[in-house]
Amino acid sequence: DMGGHDTYMHKEIHEQADAVDRALRGRIDDRFSTVHLGGLNLDARDARAVRRVKILGCGTSYHAGQIGAQMIEELARIPADAEPASEFRYRNPVVDPDTLYIAVSQSGETYDVLAAVQELKRKGARVLGLVNVVGSAIARETDGGIYVHAGPEVCVVSTKCFTNMVVSFGLLALHLGRTRDLSVADGKRIIEGLRKLPGQIEEILGNEAEIEKLAAEYADAKSMMFIGRVRGYPVAREASLKLKEVSYIHAEAYPASELKHGPLALIEPAMPTVAIVPDDELLEKNRAALEEIKARSGRILAVAHQEQEKADHTIVVPKNEDELDPILMGIPLQLFAYYTAKAMGRDIDKPRNLAKSVTVE
Ligand code: F6R
Repeated sequence: DMGGHDTYMHKEIHEQADAVDRALRGRIDDRFSTVHLGGLNLDARDARAVRRVKILGCGTSYHAGQIGAQMIEELARIPADAEPASEFRYRNPVVDPDTLYIAVSQSGETYDVLAAVQELKRKGARVLGLVNVVGSAIARETDGGIYVHAGPEVCVVSTKCFTNMVVSFGLLALHLGRTRDLSVADGKRIIEGLRKLPGQIEEILGNEAEIEKLAAEYADAKSMMFIGRVRGYPVAREASLKLKEVSYIHAEAYPASELKHGPLALIEPAMPTVAIVPDDELLEKNRAALEEIKARSGRILAVAHQEQEKADHTIVVPKNEDELDPILMGIPLQLFAYYTAKAMGRDIDKPRNLAKSVTVE
């Protein structure tokens, strides 16, 4: 039942405020400015002994993991990174007892992720799951974890589950941080930020008509560039994947700083750029990248916390805490992908060649 929406993708994009609310419910502990994650199975002593975090996933879940790794580094100061589960699995990785491994998956059935989990378990590693489907294979095989509580996701491309994964990583980063060196004041600040998310998501979705107009303007592009820096880079990668999947427009994502090392050669009026421009310590650097693109007559659509002078269009999103901004900045670009695909008459819920869960190698 699509409840009045024309596609599940549209419905699921609109369920995100409720989904995030569900991910937060019952987990916030104001007394100690932290969160409780019931199924984690990691006591304080274990949490303090973690020396590295390695996050494994595929596709959109891998992108959520990239944001998660940054959150864990920033809030818990534990070195963390994300890697596609299949790459990890086939390169004979060094499995280290002081590393906390986290498998991220909507379905909990993705074969490459499951196989990586099984290999890690066989070698005695501690593996947590960050999973949506309760009781799925990955949820069962991990030592503990966090259910992301996005609710059923029917559309082949992931939207609300991505958002809830990133929120869940925020909760985990806060929990690990508060078990280690994150101050009470910073814990409070992050909790306040988390609580603002559902309202801010509604605000972004309220802007839908503007995004629909913008999508119509860019739907003639053969190819689009997505750029971001640090917190904005995985947001750019996920937005680029979403656009390719549902519209079949070629898109690629680059760190903004890498443009001048090659891809700037592609910039011309027919190659628009979507730029993630958060109002954080890298704002001036990002503005400089917009200038470089403008100087080559590139069209720019910015997603930012304030109008960008160099951009042709800016989608303004509400500001949260710097560490949590990536949760919100991708949401208008889900709508952008949806409306672009709709303008092109694509089969949005079932893009060609794709399946909802990839249970083969
Ligand atoms: C993209 C998408 C895929 C999945 C990937 C992993 O919109 O849906 O990239 O994210 O196949 O699937 P899960 O999360 O079920 O392991």
